[in-house]
Amino acid sequence: MQVFITGATGWIGSAAVSELLAAGHEVTGLARSDASADALRAKGARVRRGDLDDLGGIRAGAADADAVVHLANKHDFANPAVNNRAERGAVQAIGEALAGSHRPFVLASGLAFVTPGRAATEQDPSPFHGIDSMRGGGENLALEFVERGVNTVVVRFAPTVHGDGDPGFMSGLVAAARAQGVSAYIGEGANRWAAVHRGDAGRVVRLALEEKAPAGSILHAAAETGIPTRDIAEAIGRGLGLPVTSVPADQAGAHFGWLNKFYGADMAADSDVTRALLGWTPGGPTLAEDLDSGCYYR
Ligand SMILES: NC(=O)c1ccc[n+]([C@@H]2O[C@H](COP(=O)([O-])OP(=O)(O)OC[C@H]3O[C@@H](n4cnc5c(N)ncnc54)[C@H](OP(=O)(O)O)[C@@H]3O)[C@@H](O)[C@H]2O)c1
Repeated sequence: MQVFITGATGWIGSAAVSELLAAGHEVTGLARSDASADALRAKGARVRRGDLDDLGGIRAGAADADAVVHLANKHDFANPAVNNRAERGAVQAIGEALAGSHRPFVLASGLAFVTPGRAATEQDPSPFHGIDSMRGGGENLALEFVERGVNTVVVRFAPTVHGDGDPGFMSGLVAAARAQGVSAYIGEGANRWAAVHRGDAGRVVRLALEEKAPAGSILHAAAETGIPTRDIAEAIGRGLGLPVTSVPADQAGAHFGWLNKFYGADMAADSDVTRALLGWTPGGPTLAEDLDSGCYYR
């Protein structure tokens, strides 16, 4: 398949591109800089230069492809409106380009605030609709295109896609612990995070693209259902040789900055349906193994 992928140079995207190329697919990645374009070419992928704000370019990239994976995200957590607008715009552009074609459209999504207090399943619809909701309501918008002849499959990634080189939430928590001199959790630290190793997440993207799941499916790239944030703080404390403490919820904003909103959230998720549909068995290290391996503290 000729696959157009946005976010191809990102943490998950670069793993997904390697997976797709190794499986014999041809990949064209969206690149907004020379460095990103060079990185893609070095791996054997083609390049479409462009930005998330260039919706004409995204539409053209999608129209030229047999399948589309959308992983790019501005991740401007201080400005959710900017993120939401870009996300919704890209989903709309890709959906319109693929309408009527029954070609696969794999969309990255998340688990934040989907079913707080219990593990989300793949049957739980996203409660987010419209541009002012989480991720601009992109998940529901992408699924609406199924009726218009797009083979949308949503992949909700665990809140930590971990591994050596992870620039995401775990690195943010390590940085916060270093800055504060303590590794902290919020309140009792009983809220849980699902987790998946990066390689296993990349494999979910490939399998989703290869139409192992029917159009309209929601998949969970979650190898571990839910790790209490207290356990995460304790592992980071071990790794950095720092004390571990609880921070009251009303002081967590000052302690963790923008991360607070996510670190205090309960984001557990099952993946039984995903495993069954894709034949996916995660094989990478667990979050605890990665946090104890030393790779987060260099
Ligand atoms: N990693 C996680 O733990 C996690 C968890 C849940 C959900 N997700 C979701 O999964 C998706 C992939 O995440 P990730 O961790 O791989 O993200 P990432 O490492 O931050 O990579 C983001 C990608 O988006 C591209 N990008 C950012 N702004 C862009 C713009 N204005 N125009 C074009 N491209 C732009 C980046 O390109 P450059 O290389 O040029 O910067 C990069 O390829 C995202 O939707 C994310 O929210 C991730």
